[in-house]
Amino acid sequence: MTRSTAGERIMVALDLEAREALDVARSLVGIVRWAKVGMTLFYREGPDIVRRLADLGFEVFVDLKIHDIPHQVELAAAGLARLGAGMMTVHAAGGSAMVDAAVSGVRRGASESGVSPPAVVAVTVLTSIDDSSLAAIGVERPVTEQVPLLARVARAGGADGVVCSPHEAARMRGLFGEAGYVVCPGIRPAGSEADDQARVATPHAALLAGASHLVIGRPITAAASPASAAMRIIDEIEGAKTWQES
Ligand code: C5P
Repeated sequence: MTRSTAGERIMVALDLEAREALDVARSLVGIVRWAKVGMTLFYREGPDIVRRLADLGFEVFVDLKIHDIPHQVELAAAGLARLGAGMMTVHAAGGSAMVDAAVSGVRRGASESGVSPPAVVAVTVLTSIDDSSLAAIGVERPVTEQVPLLARVARAGGADGVVCSPHEAARMRGLFGEAGYVVCPGIRPAGSEADDQARVATPHAALLAGASHLVIGRPITAAASPASAAMRIIDEIEGAKTWQES
């Protein structure tokens, strides 16, 4: 993988206050292609944060993990497309009709505003959920079976891919094929802190397993120099083999 391809695969999770998020983002222009806006930043700062990051030149991953009736989801997805988001998330547990509504929504919103539609990626089972939490909500299947089941629901609804831990990346790649988005959080460069992430992998291991994009938050945003931290990660994966090359 070349240096610029490495930067295109990194999504920096800006789980920060707006001012700090924008400062970190400015320092990463030209190094990292994607900025991820989660609920914390979006609900606090509003849609304008998406426009501001897009204006800096980032592809913006709006990670709101939407889950509602299809009508509501379609309109919400159209709104995110109009804002210029490059990727958005829905919960696969909302069913294939809901995922399909998100896909229709982004297409409509994008065509109305003359932009490309954001990719729709589905969350299967949150990494905070284990077998006993699934059982408590009446799902007797273990996580290892529930994840592929929900990924198939997402695929049936026309999702472009999934968000999953690096440990499920190979299986998800098998389901979504060569062009699918396999977006992996829980990435920790060699020798860094795991923080509250339980199922972690290095950037290189995740790419080798099938990840197309790596969501990286604190190893970049909490570093004394986020730009240097991002460049160290790029150094680590530059020249590394991906699942396509292995
Ligand atoms: O700081 P860190 O690298 O752990 O940030 C990971 C990001 O990925 C956070 O924004 C978190 O919300 C998100 N995420 C995750 N696990 C998931 C889905 C998203 O950690 N299953």
